[in-house]
Order: sequence, then structure tokens, then C-alpha cells
Amino acid sequence: MSLAKKLVAPQLRDLQPYQSARRIGGIGQVYLNANESGFAPYEMPVTETWNRYPDFLPTDLTNTYSRYVGINPDRTMAVRGADEAIDLLIRTFCEPHKDAIRIQTPTYSMYEFVAQAHGVAVDTVSLDSSFELDMKRNSSAEVGGKNLKIIFICNPNNPTGNALSQDSIAAIAEEHRESAFVVIDEAYIEYCPQESLLSLIDSHPNVIVIRTLSKAFALAAIRVGFLIAREEVLEQVGKLIAPYPIPDNSARIAISALSESGVSHMQSCRDQTIALREQTRNDMNELNAVEQVYSSVTNFLLVRFRDASLVMQTLLEEGVVVRDQTHFAQLPQHLRITVGTSEEMLEMMSHIRAL
Ligand SMILES: Cc1ncc(COP(=O)(O)O)c(C=O)c1O
Repeated sequence: MSLAKKLVAPQLRDLQPYQSARRIGGIGQVYLNANESGFAPYEMPVTETWNRYPDFLPTDLTNTYSRYVGINPDRTMAVRGADEAIDLLIRTFCEPHKDAIRIQTPTYSMYEFVAQAHGVAVDTVSLDSSFELDMKRNSSAEVGGKNLKIIFICNPNNPTGNALSQDSIAAIAEEHRESAFVVIDEAYIEYCPQESLLSLIDSHPNVIVIRTLSKAFALAAIRVGFLIAREEVLEQVGKLIAPYPIPDNSARIAISALSESGVSHMQSCRDQTIALREQTRNDMNELNAVEQVYSSVTNFLLVRFRDASLVMQTLLEEGVVVRDQTHFAQLPQHLRITVGTSEEMLEMMSHIRAL
């Protein structure tokens, strides 16, 4: 039995996916099977097909993304942003009140939120003082009487901005090879492509990678992300996925962004962001209000201030919104600042300098 079949939540084991009109399929010239309207929508050209439901799983999009990352399309599933991937994975593999996930704190808060919302326990492992993985705690499968089903590893990590040791992640995947999924959230990977662990999927059936177009591809509004995993994993997730997950217009924009010239554009924007990040980091290190600016391989900086709440408040009064991280025990005076445009960075810097 595949690992995915073994770990799938029991309520899904024999569940037949909802059979939408597109999933059932059928080729004809007259389609009367989905209760769609026969009219063109208001002010839309009749040549468009906005009155029709989109594909069940948009093959053009998954093929295009697979080409971009160099993997088999059978291992790719398009989802509505990385957040939907997190939600689908927890609901597919975790049984409420019996199962657990593990997170590496401080990290992206959606893993914990989704788990709690579904009655799934959360085992919280702290990153060490260099924001690296705690290998001893991660080697354990023991989580207070609950079955550990998924270990989330955000790499590079949000909000710390560092890439985690690839060897450590591989060792955790190996350790739990037969018993739990290791989900690597690579939302920021375009900023440091050499850190990707996509190839671990070839050697480890328990590795799942999450990607998104919301960050370096600058497409947060269209809500497109990807789950990359063995076919048998996607088969289980496919039981729960929404009937028509990706709107047609999102798929079209995404396919264009993933074309050769689209990827070049992304890379050029990415390189500019990286240069601005490094310049901002140097400039911030000169400021009195700043204690430390952590090195980052992403499009944001984690900054330790002498008085984070004063900085947060001052920036807010000036209409500059950054992200407070002081709710994390390890980040008592820390704010996370996205690298925006150079004008935005100058404005943010001028207000902190005025302090
Ligand atoms: C680590 C991480 N994963 C996932 C997401 C969500 O991405 P998406 O917009 O694709 O849902 C974010 C967004 O900030 C993130 O930081």
C-alpha cells in the first residue's frame, strides 16, 4: 500500500470525489450538462467562454508549470494559492482529534491556524538561535498520544528569511519516510532557487513541495499555487479539491507569466528586489533604532529594533504598514519588512531615521 493510502484520513479512504460535469467529461458540440447559461455575460465578447465552467484541473497550466520546474506533469496540481495547498493537505491526511502536525516556530502561521480549525493537534518545535532546525525534536514521532501525519518546513522560512539546511531537511524526510509527510513550503524559492528540495520527491515518497505565483511572479491577486508530489499523494488530495479550483482568467494569466519571456521578467524583477534588499539591509544597519537586520534570501527583512512597538506605531502614523512579529517568543522586538519599490523603501527608511 502506498504511503498516501496508508496516511489518508479514514473518512476519505473510500470516499468517491464529487463528480462535477467537467470531471465526468464528455466531448460534443452541444453542452447541456452543467446548467450553465447559453448567453454571453454583460460586456464580454461572445468569442469568450466565460459562461462555461473551467476545466476540472487545468492541464495547460499544470503542463506549463511542470516545464518551468522540470518535473512530470503527473506530479503537479494547481491550487488556489499555497494557502489552499496547506488546507487541502491537512484535511486530506489528518483526522480531527487523533492526528497532529509539526511546525518549526517562528514560521508561517497558516499551518497552525488550519490545523486548529480542523481539530488537529500542533506540535511546535522551536528553531534554534540561528533559526536552524532542531534535529533531535524533529526526529521524534511522539506527539502526546496523537499520530504525527505532517511535518511542515517553510524553506526559506517566513518570517526569519533564512534558508534552512538542506541536509537537515533531507534527514528529517528520511527519518519519517514510512510514517509522516514532510511538506516543504517553497513560497519564496524563486529568490534562492539553489535552495529548492524538489528533487527529494524522486527519492522520498513522503516529500511534498508547495509553490506559489504570489511572490516573485508578482501574481498574488490571481490565487495560483501548486502542490508537487508523487501521483498517489495527489490522487488523495484530488478527492477533496474544489470542483473547479482555478478560474479561467487566473489560468490564462499564470500561463503567460510562466512563458519564457514571463519567466525572464520574473527573474529581472527578482534580481532588482534582491539588490534593493541588500541595500536596505546595509542602510538599516546604520540606524540607531535598529539592533540587527538578519540576512535574508527572500523578499523581506526581519529586523530587531530597540523598541519595536515605537517603530511600528511611528510607521503606522505615517501610513507605512509593516508586520509585527513580537507575538513569537523568539522575536520580542522584531518586525518583518517587505522589500517593495525603491521609493517605498526610501519612505520607510526616512520615518525610521527621523526617530
Ligand atoms: C511561507 C508562505 N506560504 C504560503 C503563503 C501563501 O501564499 P499564497 O498567496 O499562494 O496563498 C505565504 C504568504 O505570505 C507564505 O509566506
